[in-house]
Amino acid sequence: MEREINGKILTIPEHIAIIMDGNGRWAKKRLMPRSYGHVQGSKVVEKIIRSAGELGVKYLTVYAFSTENWKRPEEEVNTLMKLLNNYLEDCIKKCNKNNMRVKVIGEIHRLSPELQKKIIELEEASKQNDGIQFTMALNYGSRDEMVRAMRKMTSDVKAGTLKEEDISEETFERYLDTAGMPDPDLMIRTSGEERLSNFMMWQLAYTEFYFTDVLWPDFNKAELIKAIEYFNGRDRRFGAV
Ligand code: IPE
Ligand code: IPE
Ligand code: MG
Repeated sequence: MEREINGKILTIPEHIAIIMDGNGRWAKKRLMPRSYGHVQGSKVVEKIIRSAGELGVKYLTVYAFSTENWKRPEEEVNTLMKLLNNYLEDCIKKCNKNNMRVKVIGEIHRLSPELQKKIIELEEASKQNDGIQFTMALNYGSRDEMVRAMRKMTSDVKAGTLKEEDISEETFERYLDTAGMPDPDLMIRTSGEERLSNFMMWQLAYTEFYFTDVLWPDFNKAELIKAIEYFNGRDRRFGAV
């Protein structure tokens, strides 16, 4: 899809994935506890979903909590879980008004029963909406996702519902948490770090990467447009010439 933005015709990526990073450093710069950074960061998520929707993005996927983030101090993990809980509640109230479909990827069974219940409720309540699909990666790790996919495949082979000779890239994709979603066209990581930190390693195989020094709580629509402009300057090839 193409859109005129600030006098330029831009191709809008269908799917944008974001590694929201830098909340802790943002708070530290202000001599505030890390949790303050997470509070501000969570407010930005809502604004960016709205901006992405306005720009015509169809899928927005954000990395909210990794399988490695449990190693953080207990107090910080608690803050993140509390924010998540509030966010899910808010989303249940607003998703239909905003015509937004919400999906969660990751190993949700390690989250509290309360959170799991809200996730299921939210996915169910929003599944008919045909506006932007907002996907949250919660207790998500790409390696974990692939191992879980392999386990399910193996058990289907054992049960006889999947033939070993039918295992292909397409079959494998159907076992991933992202089954049915297009791969991201653009991946953004804020805060100057340039690594994947176990995020969507299969799905990002041909994605364009955009790194910015902006810390997540400072990210906004203008920064999102900068990333889309960068994407438009790339020459995507998928292996061809
Ligand atoms: C990203 O910000 C949010 C999560 C990982 C949940 P960080 O908390 O990683 O912030 P920095 O990288 O320490 O600044
Ligand atoms: C990646 O950020 C995870 C999320 C943004 C949720 P981290 O800040 O946890 O990653 P590392 O530890 O710097 O690689
Ligand atoms: Mg970080």
